[in-house]
Amino acid sequence: MQALFFYQNTLWLWRQSMCSGLIENYVAAMVLSAAGDALGYYNGQWEFLQSGKEIHKQLAKMGGLDKINISDWKVSDDTVMHLATAEALIAAGEQPKLPQLYSLLAKHYKDCMADMKGRAPGRACVMNAAMLQPDKPEGWRIPFSKTAGGCGAAMRSMCIGLRFHHPEQLDRLIEVSIESGRMTHHHPTGYLGSLASALFTAYAVNRKPPQQWGKGLMEVLPKAKAYVQKAGYFVEENMEHWSYFEEQWRKYLKMRGILDGVSSPTFPKAYGVKERDIFYTSVSYSGWGGSSGHDAPMIAYDAMLGAVNV
Ligand SMILES: *[C@@H]1O[C@H](CO)[C@@H](O)[C@H](O)[C@H]1NC(C)=O
Repeated sequence: MQALFFYQNTLWLWRQSMCSGLIENYVAAMVLSAAGDALGYYNGQWEFLQSGKEIHKQLAKMGGLDKINISDWKVSDDTVMHLATAEALIAAGEQPKLPQLYSLLAKHYKDCMADMKGRAPGRACVMNAAMLQPDKPEGWRIPFSKTAGGCGAAMRSMCIGLRFHHPEQLDRLIEVSIESGRMTHHHPTGYLGSLASALFTAYAVNRKPPQQWGKGLMEVLPKAKAYVQKAGYFVEENMEHWSYFEEQWRKYLKMRGILDGVSSPTFPKAYGVKERDIFYTSVSYSGWGGSSGHDAPMIAYDAMLGAVNV
């Protein structure tokens, strides 16, 4: 019900300034990200099942994708937090002041924890959200953490790219995706995932060809670094752990042959469920593909490139 109310509000706001095709795409982006989440989550049974082969076996038993009615499946913690991000962006209005927007994001992240039953939120994310104090100045900041590189921030920031998609809003997109990300994931591997999701969504709105997105991210990272240095909060710790995300992405883009932002991606001849599982494990931080801020958007991007390529 709350979701429906949200979409009506969203529609109303966006109708003010956009043509109807764009509104439809925006609504589709929000709804389909939730549908994809519900599918991958499968009421808690697939998110933690690391064997793609087993997942595909169970899917086949259900009669395949066409036989699934996704309305009956629960969305996970990630969609609840994505909605929280969107609600805060809307509540901040058309010309948001950043400190006010950050307080609203903190408030929505904290409040949405009441809607997590059966949605498997990460323990660290729950604990960090509890630390937020939206009513206090700077109460949206939490300390750096060496273990906050998980994918949670990357899973809820797509709508930041919808909101700040104009190329001249890039600085704003960088700041908001980083600060909202580090409200629960104060580690570069965590909040740069938030930046990647927001940036790629903005690229999609602008119809930038997907094989150029990776190079775009590489070019944006130095700006992100400069912002974190300028923000002046736990700078030393952030710089110490900065390089991992960038190195992993560079390695991946090189492997697909798209570091130049011009070439078409190349995939192995055989790239089925088994080969993809091996690849996902290989890009992961500790053996669980997609669980970190760098590899969650990377695997999604890889799937998209593969689908466009078919
Ligand atoms: C899917 O489920 C929803 C909610 O349970 C229901 O309203 C809808 O009719 C179902 N759709 C199909 C095609 O079965």
